[in-house]
Formats: sequence, C-alpha cells, structure tokens
Amino acid sequence: MKRLIIAIDGPAGAGKSTVAKLAAQQLGYTYIDTGAMYRAVAWQVLQAGLEPDNKTVAALAASLDLKLTYVNGKTAVAVNGRDITEAIRTPEVNRLVSRVAQVQALREIMLTLQRGLAAEGGVVMDGRDIGTHVLPNADIKIFLTASISERAQRRWQELTAKGYTLALAELENEIKTRDKADCEREFAPLAAAADAVFIDTTELSIQATVEKILELCKERQ
Ligand code: C5P
Repeated sequence: MKRLIIAIDGPAGAGKSTVAKLAAQQLGYTYIDTGAMYRAVAWQVLQAGLEPDNKTVAALAASLDLKLTYVNGKTAVAVNGRDITEAIRTPEVNRLVSRVAQVQALREIMLTLQRGLAAEGGVVMDGRDIGTHVLPNADIKIFLTASISERAQRRWQELTAKGYTLALAELENEIKTRDKADCEREFAPLAAAADAVFIDTTELSIQATVEKILELCKERQ
C-alpha cells in the first residue's frame, strides 16, 4: 500500500498536533511537528538572552544542532544534546516564536530539513506552510480551523494543567497576535493550499476529526 504524505496546516490551537499524532499512530506513519522546530530556535534566543533580530536568528539557524526523536507518537526535541521537549512549550516561547519564524534564512534551513524528513512518505507533518510551501505535492492537504474562543480555551486548559496562571482573554489576544504575524509574514505565510480540505474542529471531537482524515486516506490510497 502506498505510504502517503499528509500535510496539516492551520492557526494556533486548532488541534493540529493532537489529531496529526493520532492519525500518524493509527496509520503507522511518522508524525513531524514543524512548530517544535521553530520553537527550538525561539528557545535558544531566550536562553542566550539575545535579541530576535534577523542576523542573530540567521546565525543560530546556520549552526543549528537540532534533533527530533519520535517515540510512540511523541516528539522529543533536543538542541546541542539538551532535551528541551517541555521547555519549548512555555508562554515565553509562545510569545517569541512567530517573530523568529519570520526570518527567511531560518525558514530556508527548516524547509530543507522538513523535506528530507518527508522524503520517504508515510508521514503526517503539521505546521503553517506545509501544504503551500514545504510539501506542495502532498497526497492529502488539510486546513484545520476552530473559532478563536475555542482555540484560546484549549490552550488555556493545556497551560493551566501545567501550572501556569493565565487570563483567558490575555491568551486569546496572544493567539490573535501570533496568527496575524504568521498570516502576514513575507516568506511562506500561514495559508490554506488551494487544494486543501477544510475541517472546522470547533464542535468536532478529536476522534471524529481523526476519522475524517483516515477516510481521506482510504479515498486517496
Ligand atoms: O504549531 P505551533 O503552535 O507549535 O507553532 C509555533 C509557531 O511556529 C507558529 O506560531 C509559527 O510562528 C511557527 N511555525 C511556522 N511554520 C510552521 C510551523 C510553525 O512558521 N510550519
């Protein structure tokens, strides 16, 4: 059976990584979280106390020692041998990552890495520019959305469970700011591919969303 390439794009908190992971598990495919790759660089900027200007980010990107490991559908992220799987999910990284992801030199390096990871097929890759830019020949392209209030609520629950104290309204504003920056950036902005299938998850359960994706896979096998 053909091992498909599945691209899932959409705004923050639409449920991309959750459904992409489950779909990959059920298909026996590799899940590739491209957001984690940009987050790793944002974490480096914060860690080193640097300004996130183009030159600094480009220099970090040029010497990037990034390792993604997939174990039981979970992505472990390491930079220079240090495990930063949890450290890239903080509110500080959330606030910085879209600025860092605007830098063209970084995006070009990520593009090469991401295409390499998908080269053999059997992958579910999620992000912002996968169907439009990274894998324009993907077998299946999905654009996952949900209302802003639902997306903020999901992120709030995720962060609260980790012990962060955040106001829901503040989080909603942060997500709006991040989506705006991702949609309006010059290189490979967040957009739906012309041939993407739209799925609105506002009132759709995780399992129902995964089922839709698996159905599409059956159709395109
Ligand atoms: O998916 P996640 O929320 O972890 O992505 C974090 C950020 O990384 C996004 O808001 C965006 O700025 C950047 N990103 C990107 N292109 C991708 C994936 C993520 O620019 N393919």
